[in-house]
Amino acid sequence: MKLAAIIQFTVAVLCGAASLGSLIQKVPSKAAKRQNPFHADVQAQRAGAKLYARECASCHGDNRQGRANVPPLARPDVENAAPGTLFWIVTNGSPGRAMPSFAHLPEAQRWQISMFLQTQAQSK
Ligand code: HEC
Repeated sequence: MKLAAIIQFTVAVLCGAASLGSLIQKVPSKAAKRQNPFHADVQAQRAGAKLYARECASCHGDNRQGRANVPPLARPDVENAAPGTLFWIVTNGSPGRAMPSFAHLPEAQRWQISMFLQTQAQSK
């Protein structure tokens, strides 16, 4: 990547993150407190990785790096968020801001995706 491209990319990512604010901070605390029924289940985590690739990577990137107007998910505040926080975001999306709702996926799959995002912190 040329330097100009790198700078452009960095600026885009930073602006995106700043202007979109953090959806994570908008999740109701009651929703955030829900427990992931798949806690520490390796198979569920693998299923989550596949679901991420199918449902989320087109916007958030193969490596959760984000894109110009889509926030990266490879961030400590996402990886360490309460499990219910990510479940809520995946379920509700962000109406009017291009993050779709995935309420059509079975609840188990939404927990698996949430779990995948979180276990990335431990696998680094
Ligand atoms: C069509 C593009 C698109 C798809 C597909 C998509 N997202 Fe998003 N996502 C976004 C955008 C845009 C935002 C920023 C929304 C906002 O800040 O209001 C976002 C925000 C988020 C956030 C909050 C990040 C923050 O900074 O607070 C999480 C977590 C998230 N997405 C997870 C996922 C997961 C998991 C999937 C797959 C199930 C997914 N997204 C699929 C576009 C997408």
